[in-house]
Amino acid sequence: MRPLLILTAFVMVLAACKKEDSVTDSGTPNNPVDPLAALNLPATPYNYANQPLPTHILAVGADNTPANNPITDDGATLGRVLFFDQNLSINRTIACASCHQSDKAFSDPRIKSTGHAGGLTGRHSMSLVNARYYANRRFFWDERAATLEDQVLRPIQDTVEMGLTLDQLLARVREQAYYPVLLTKAFGDTAVTSDRLSRALAQYVRSMVSYQSKYDIGRAQVAATGDPFPNFTMQENMGKGIFNGPATCATCHGTDAHIAPGPRSNGLDATTTDAGVGGSSAIPNQLGQFKSPSLRNIALNAPYMHDGRFTTLEQVIEHYNSGVQDHPNLSPPLRTPGGTPIRLNLSVGQKAALLAFLHTLSDNSFATDPKFQDPFVR
Ligand code: HEC
Ligand code: HEC
Repeated sequence: MRPLLILTAFVMVLAACKKEDSVTDSGTPNNPVDPLAALNLPATPYNYANQPLPTHILAVGADNTPANNPITDDGATLGRVLFFDQNLSINRTIACASCHQSDKAFSDPRIKSTGHAGGLTGRHSMSLVNARYYANRRFFWDERAATLEDQVLRPIQDTVEMGLTLDQLLARVREQAYYPVLLTKAFGDTAVTSDRLSRALAQYVRSMVSYQSKYDIGRAQVAATGDPFPNFTMQENMGKGIFNGPATCATCHGTDAHIAPGPRSNGLDATTTDAGVGGSSAIPNQLGQFKSPSLRNIALNAPYMHDGRFTTLEQVIEHYNSGVQDHPNLSPPLRTPGGTPIRLNLSVGQKAALLAFLHTLSDNSFATDPKFQDPFVR
């Protein structure tokens, strides 16, 4: 009896190993025992940790990755699966990706996003591109989350968005056959903790770096952002000059990575309609201030602003050109030396040039990169 038992056990172990090894790009959906059957994962993980980022991005030195959570390929892979997993909402209908779509700069084309029970979010969804390079480190329009690791568990517990408690989240993750395999690759064993889930999600979000736009190709060929880019049209270079110069856009929206000075009021309204950062901080002059977003892939990210009030980039440009309102906390770059809101008085040609420049920040390789697409076999 004994040798037979050992042999049976040996064959079973062998079969189990074989199943894992045989997981390929197409998965093995016909094999019900394969724990990864629900997923379409490559045999070796995608490169998240060592993407060939150009010097002009690395040189900004504003990476908000904490020392205890560097990106690894397996950690980000786990994060990717969590990001697209609808089991992370109470009625299994909503994932992070429902409101952060990869071909929309990881934002949502709807003004407000819809949560699990059809309720609407309080503000417009945010792009996640180059979140890693936001030097002020805080997250959300009102910067209420101190770190990305803190931010990523909040939508899951938000009653409108995904509607789970942390305990329910852990149970949902334990329930799925694929997570033990992914957790072991990422963290060494199968233990499910909210800390691990937070770290994996944050790694995945930080891997969303756009570095192959027309802007990047041109920027890599010159010494400074202000130099004319050889690959730009005359109009695009003119738009870049306006962006970095008289229009002062670059003071709040660094384009090399995502340098921004922190939250500001850009004069959308004369009075405070949404407390913004002032609602989550005790500093009174932050009323009506919001995070200055990255403009990477901005042409894919409509509608615009925390309330999604502008449908087009033309409307955004017209706001800065002629519509800036005299909010008490309006940021100084948007005031004249005399204190009134600036009026750029751009010509039709200058506005078109600014628009053409904003389009050079679009990165089609990012928008279509397989490592940012849905891994689930649906
Ligand atoms: C129902 C829609 C919805 C879902 C689901 C959702 N988000 Fe969001 N997300 C939003 C909205 C809306 C905001 C802006 C909210 C605010 O600032 O008040 C936001 C903001 C963010 C930000 C802040 C970006 C920045 O630059 O500050 C991050 C990061 C983020 N979400 C990641 C995630 C992750 C990770 C998940 C899944 C765990 C997720 N979101 C699920 C709608 C959603
Ligand atoms: C004083 C800082 C400041 C300056 C200068 C500035 N912006 Fe902004 N910008 C912001 C802030 C803050 C927001 C978010 C405001 C909100 O939603 O309440 C924003 C939002 C935007 C958005 C929408 C982003 C999104 O994801 O919805 C675009 C596009 C934009 N700005 C372009 C420009 C351009 C072009 C210029 C120059 C003409 C410019 N900005 C000048 C601070 C600034």
